[in-house]
Amino acid sequence: HLQPPNDSQMGDLRRENCRAKGASGGFRVAVLGAAGGIGQPLAMLMKMNPLVSVLHLYDVVNAPGVTADISHMDTSAVVRGFLGQQQLEDALTGMDLVIIPAGVPRKPGMTRDDLFNINAGIVKTLCEGIAKCCPKAIVNVISNPVNSTVPIAAEVFKKAGTYDPKLLLGVTMLDVVRANTFVAEVLGLDPREVDVPVVGGHAGVTILPLLSQVKPSSSFTPKEIDYLTDRIQNGGTEVVEAKAGAGSATLSMAYAAVKFADACLRGLRGDAGIVQCAYVASEVTELPFFASKVRLGRTGVEEIHPLGPLNEYERAGLEKAKKELAGSIQKGVSFIRK
Ligand code: NAI
Repeated sequence: HLQPPNDSQMGDLRRENCRAKGASGGFRVAVLGAAGGIGQPLAMLMKMNPLVSVLHLYDVVNAPGVTADISHMDTSAVVRGFLGQQQLEDALTGMDLVIIPAGVPRKPGMTRDDLFNINAGIVKTLCEGIAKCCPKAIVNVISNPVNSTVPIAAEVFKKAGTYDPKLLLGVTMLDVVRANTFVAEVLGLDPREVDVPVVGGHAGVTILPLLSQVKPSSSFTPKEIDYLTDRIQNGGTEVVEAKAGAGSATLSMAYAAVKFADACLRGLRGDAGIVQCAYVASEVTELPFFASKVRLGRTGVEEIHPLGPLNEYERAGLEKAKKELAGSIQKGVSFIRK
């Protein structure tokens, strides 16, 4: 007669069941830099997302601890941890979506560009892994300076012969989340009802909120426009200064990253009308990369929306943004081509 399985067999059995369930439906998502300030709450929120069946958590430190912790949550995604460069390929194989919050954050007095020297190399290595192990995955780049790290990722993929511009997206969602919050405060509305397009890039003057296109349709005084534009452009610095050396935005960033990743997954599933702002390869301006509203679908970025009518204030902002963005893009491209 059949013996009940012993403890270790039981473990194997359950793991096999979990694997089968993971493979049968839902998406496979990897978070690279999962033990960091953004990575941990991002991993937690992805574990709560019903569209995720398998969640791979990769970092160069502490991945096993974060994985053990998150794996106890009673939601359906199966969680696996991967530690160190030698496990990067296993972490990436078979993934549908890769989210990258790996790298150092700002301290007071630093610009995002000050992070370039360290983060450029990290993003390069991770993207080489993606090109090799999951070239068809959608990639969400969070690591700063996003204005340069997305061009770096594109160059790595081009070199590997796997580049598909529809699959590479820089995450500017936090700028939109902040804009929605600050505009809602001024208008006295629930932030969930407010939609502010934010275009350009993700640093200082390249962050360009289009307040003339806010939904619901609203008008602002010149003073309100100055206040809102300044606060949206410097929202990240507001957090860096408040944290006083302990890092930059992590919790609101994790929230924004998951909101954006969820939109990517719903697009992949085939949902209609999924539109979010993102920093992508673009022909909206003469620059090779630009953030604007994009429609997400089964193949990634399926349509890039034009900027729409801009007022004089926004046209002036756009010129300033383009000037700075051009330099940041060039810096990223030359980092790989040099
Ligand atoms: P953190 O320092 O708390 O975490 C970064 C994690 O990346 C650490 O766990 C570290 O071990 C890991 N890491 C370092 N090198 C790695 C490698 N080669 N492979 C895998 N993992 C590696 O930093 P935090 O606060 O989580 O920020 C991460 C990045 O996100 C920073 O570059 C920051 O500037 C950026 N950021 C982007 C925002 C956006 O809106 N796109 C907003 C806020 C931050």
